[in-house]
Order: sequence, then structure tokens, then C-alpha cells
Amino acid sequence: MEIAVRAYLDSDYAEVRTLFGELSQHFAEIYGDQVISGADPGRGFDVYLKRTNRVGSWVAVKDKQVVGFTGLLDVIGEEGIAEIEPLIVSESYRSQGIGSKLAEYAKQEAKKKGFEFLTIKPTLRNEEAFHLYIRLGFNIIGSVELFQDLMPERGRTWKPGVTLLGHKLGY
Ligand SMILES: CC(C)(COP(=O)(O)OP(=O)(O)OC[C@H]1O[C@@H](n2cnc3c(N)ncnc32)[C@H](O)[C@@H]1OP(=O)(O)O)[C@@H](O)C(=O)NCCC(=O)NCCS
Repeated sequence: MEIAVRAYLDSDYAEVRTLFGELSQHFAEIYGDQVISGADPGRGFDVYLKRTNRVGSWVAVKDKQVVGFTGLLDVIGEEGIAEIEPLIVSESYRSQGIGSKLAEYAKQEAKKKGFEFLTIKPTLRNEEAFHLYIRLGFNIIGSVELFQDLMPERGRTWKPGVTLLGHKLGY
């Protein structure tokens, strides 16, 4: 399988927007909440393109088709920390090493740009992505994002199974 990684071009816009649509659909599935993807699932890409701290965006291409996307952000308010955001591979191309290849590419770019740390902030409910990132070497926890559910009447359910510093937490 020939997979090339290259810089994102404006002409990739429609294909990458479709990938963002797959991303929000994936989140709708893992949380069982179709509201997450909504009527225009790819809109997150338009928001992403407006981020001023983007330092690079790359696509994975197979047979001239864009099958994956990743980007690097310079974390605002921190010195020397790059964040991989997002990492998306089109559903029918997953589990072939493309996500790992994109993440490794972004890591090498972060090194070239002189960043001291690389972070990735997986939604914990996205368990497959979490396992992959551990495999890719993200084995230090920085900050932890804690939540309270302010609308329990909506009946959202949280999975048990995480213990941090002795505390049992949902995710
Ligand atoms: C997370 C995501 C980017 C991973 O992309 P991917 O191309 O499937 O990643 P890889 O193929 O490199 O790795 C996935 C798994 O396949 C395995 N794998 C890699 N190459 C493989 C191959 N040739 N054959 C079989 N399995 C393989 C990896 O070991 C890995 O297993 P692990 O999760 O147990 O570590 C992809 O699943 C995705 O787009 N998900 C939806 C969007 C999302 O949630 N993104 C993250 C939040 S922004």
C-alpha cells in the first residue's frame, strides 16, 4: 500500500471537510448522541482553519485520494509545546498504519520546529484512539480535564473504569 504524506493544499478542502464529518460522526457514535454531528458534520473544519496557532497541516494520500489528515498546533499560553490536533483517517482505511504514519510525521515536524514537548488530547471515551496514542509513546500525563454534568436530566451515561491517584472516575 503506497501512502504519501504531504502538506495540506487549499484544493484538499472538500475531502478534508468530509474527513471532519467522519470525525464528528465517530463522536456521535461513541457518545450515542447524534446531536454531536448535526446537520453539517464537516463544519468543524471551517472552525479549525480559523485557528491562528496552526503550525502545519498534512494529508495522507492514497491513489490520489485524501484518506487522512493531521495538524500541529502551537499550544497557546505554553512555551515549546506542540499539540497534534486532529488526527483523522477515513473509516475504510483505518487499522492499516496510516494514523500512526501521520502522527509520526507530525512528531518529526514538531522536532524540526524546535518544540520541546508533543501533546495529544484524546477524548477518553475514544478508547481506540487512546490505546493507539499510548502505543505511539504518549505515556506521560500532563493536565487532566475534569467535568461535571450540569444537565443530568438529559440522562447521559458515563462509563466507569478509570482510577487516577486512587479516585474512581467516569468517562
Ligand atoms: C484514531 C485514528 C486516527 C487511528 O488511525 P488508524 O489509521 O486506524 O491508525 P493505525 O492503523 O496506525 O493504528 C490503529 C490500530 O491498528 C493497528 N495497525 C496498524 N497497522 C496495522 C496493519 N498494517 N494491520 C493491522 N493493524 C494495524 C495499530 O497497531 C493500532 O492498534 P492499537 O490501537 O491497538 O494500537 C482513526 O481510528 C480515526 O480516524 N478515528 C476517528 C477519528 C478520531 O477519533 N480521531 C482521534 C481524535 S482527533
